Amino acid sequence: EVLAESQLWADGVTPEDKVPFDAGFHELPGRLLSEYRNRGADSEIGRIQVAADRLAGLVDRVVSLGIGGSYMGARALMEACCHPYYNELPRDRRGGRPRITFEGNNVDNDALRGLFDLLYPDEGGGIADQWGIAVISKSGGTLETAAAFRILLEKLSDACDDDPAKVAQRVIPVTGKSGKLFDLATALGCPDIFAVPDGVGGRFSVLSAVGLLPAAIMGLDIVKLLEGADAMNEHFRNTHADENLVLQYVGVCHLLETKRGCDIRLLTTWGKQLESVGLWYDQLLSESLGKQERGAMPLTVVNTRDLHSRGQQHQEGKRDKLVTNLIVDKFQRDEIEIGKSDNNQDQLNELADKTLVDVLDAATKGTNQAYRDDNRPTADLHLPSVNEHTIGQLFQMLMLATVSEGRLIGINPYGQPGVEAYKNNMNAILRS
Ligand code: PA5
Repeated sequence: EVLAESQLWADGVTPEDKVPFDAGFHELPGRLLSEYRNRGADSEIGRIQVAADRLAGLVDRVVSLGIGGSYMGARALMEACCHPYYNELPRDRRGGRPRITFEGNNVDNDALRGLFDLLYPDEGGGIADQWGIAVISKSGGTLETAAAFRILLEKLSDACDDDPAKVAQRVIPVTGKSGKLFDLATALGCPDIFAVPDGVGGRFSVLSAVGLLPAAIMGLDIVKLLEGADAMNEHFRNTHADENLVLQYVGVCHLLETKRGCDIRLLTTWGKQLESVGLWYDQLLSESLGKQERGAMPLTVVNTRDLHSRGQQHQEGKRDKLVTNLIVDKFQRDEIEIGKSDNNQDQLNELADKTLVDVLDAATKGTNQAYRDDNRPTADLHLPSVNEHTIGQLFQMLMLATVSEGRLIGINPYGQPGVEAYKNNMNAILRS
């Protein structure tokens, strides 16, 4: 029943009677890809690549400013798809791309002062202008991002000897087609300004310039990312509910919530690289469906790390959790063996030929079995490997699932009216 209801949406029935349907994020990957195939360098993807390469050629660090949906996706892409120590590597081992530092996602005095030390490694030295800014804000008025931009712009101007042309070359804004940031970027004379497309909400915007620009600056293959998302759209549109990944996921989550009270959803990532993908999903689910006293509570878990912290609660605490494991089937790099040692005081020689991948796999299976033995539900989501294509698929799958679930429970997944309350109060306090 649940899946049949959701299938209406997959079949293209616009559910105007239930929730407003904003198709912007849905059609975006296909639209950007077909424009790229037809217009090459003149397309949005082509322009993003050219601008990213231009900035990468000028600077060795890009400070990416943004918060919420204007930040989480880019960070997820960096952690999932770049080298695990990307920023620490010398430039040639970063593929000649700049370091990426995220800011404007909080109001933390000491963190920003700390960043100044990175931007001016040698006070009065010759490398102070080797950095630039990607400033990302759909509304163009979010205080956290706007304040950080103003402060860093001043620093950048100093670093560029107050040469406006030099500053403009080092700043790439992504924003709405009008608004304060758009006006500021225009006044600065930034050669490239990218638009967040109409009808694409903040947390649904990772596959627009919001996520694609930082990804291209890091040297990721943004075409593959979009192709992955497009493939998921095809699957979603053309696969019956019985085998439809999106609808299966929604069905499992929804049934366990309504029939067994599992209103806490753990997205358990195994290994380190998917934590920020989980945090991106935390935002997506919380801000989209956490309304009208409804909506499941997401929680990103990183195992085996969190088995040694939250694991006890998950194993024996309240029966209010659904664990979805996000499992990587094949890691990118050669497997590392534990190895034999003459110093066997740790008694690991009997595991000498096991690799870290074997250990992680045993931990995943062992944990699932422990939950099963105690009649606690788990589901597995497998990524064949982690790359731009599979992460594009995963992003799109989770966005489609969130909107489908909104349809199912009658919650409009777009907008975040609850977040406005703090903004209004903060502004009133600041201006009183
Ligand atoms: O999902 C959303 O719409 C929000 O989380 C926004 O992304 C966040 O508030 C940042 O907004 P903006 O991009 O307008 O600065």
